[in-house]
Amino acid sequence: MKAIICEQYGLPNTLVYKDVEIGQPAAGQVRVGIKACSVNFPDTLIIQGLYQFKPPLPFTPGNDIAGVVLEIGEGVNHLKVGDAIFGFTMQGGFAEEAIVPAHQIFPKPDGIDFPIAASFLLAYGTSYHALKDRAKLKAGETLVVLGASGGVGLAAVALGKLMGARVIAAASSEDKLALCVANGADATINYEKEDLKKRIKELTDGKGADVIYDPVGGAYSEAALRATAWEGRFLVVGFAAGDIPKIPLNLTLLKGCQIVGVFWGEFAKRFPKENKRNSLELLQWVLGGKLKPHIHATYPLADTPKALEEMMARKVKGKVVVVI
Ligand SMILES: NC(=O)c1ccc[n+]([C@@H]2O[C@H](COP(=O)([O-])OP(=O)(O)OC[C@H]3O[C@@H](n4cnc5c(N)ncnc54)[C@H](OP(=O)(O)O)[C@@H]3O)[C@@H](O)[C@H]2O)c1
Repeated sequence: MKAIICEQYGLPNTLVYKDVEIGQPAAGQVRVGIKACSVNFPDTLIIQGLYQFKPPLPFTPGNDIAGVVLEIGEGVNHLKVGDAIFGFTMQGGFAEEAIVPAHQIFPKPDGIDFPIAASFLLAYGTSYHALKDRAKLKAGETLVVLGASGGVGLAAVALGKLMGARVIAAASSEDKLALCVANGADATINYEKEDLKKRIKELTDGKGADVIYDPVGGAYSEAALRATAWEGRFLVVGFAAGDIPKIPLNLTLLKGCQIVGVFWGEFAKRFPKENKRNSLELLQWVLGGKLKPHIHATYPLADTPKALEEMMARKVKGKVVVVI
């Protein structure tokens, strides 16, 4: 079968597209024929050896999959050959087939196509875990989302709105902000042109934001933290801008606020039941049309490096998906 292989850590143009052997699923695993795998920013870091974990070389990147069950390992009872599924693999998704632990896979309802099914588990799962479990966002609170048109950002905008918050989307261009408004944002800030701290204060009548969702890092983090309300929660989700900010801790004292870390992959590993419950709630919202993941573009498997390059060039709105 064909797969994208990372033979040495590096940029997307170092990835190789080639034939590889795939084995048989062990106990508790299934072999999946992949139909779609969405791109997430961590994929761009994992191939460079810059992520929280470094898979041993060679490996196939790609996490967020949808496809069909081809073979079942011993002890797997909730799936059968031919079932349409979606799930997460941590690695192995940019390929025609993957072997995946069965507990990371869920049956795919007919009402959702493969690209959409591959587009919400990680992005929406991260943002739902962040807003619900970590920030404990309440209806009526104000949520500011940085990088709001990106994969996890746009998910946070839509989920914040569904959870009853007033959502302020912050991003770098007017077309990105227009997509945020279409996904539920009540107000917008173009942080390339406007002073982020000042605008958050203005839009909240001087009170500041109850919750800040930050997948960007860099210079925006401290500016946003300085516009946090009393007893606010600042969610540390990622560092797409590249720089990990160093924050003056006196800001938390002055605002009685919390800086809260978010790590969905570790949460999913440590709390599989809770993660499954969150995932099924998200699935119901997608099925009911309350959540509509935005697909910016699709690519064939051989062009996976181009999809990763688009994301690194800050050109993607919502999700890009590799369709096999
Ligand atoms: N903590 C977790 O569990 C978890 C889970 C998934 C992802 N993440 C992290 O969340 C972040 C976003 O992931 P994603 O999949 O949503 O990525 P994405 O779709 O590429 O979105 C990232 C956003 O960050 C902004 N950005 C600012 N500077 C950037 C730069 N130099 N390069 C790229 N983007 C830049 C862009 O918006 P503007 O152009 O509008 O600024 C972009 O829309 C990543 O750091 C990722 O590792 C964390």
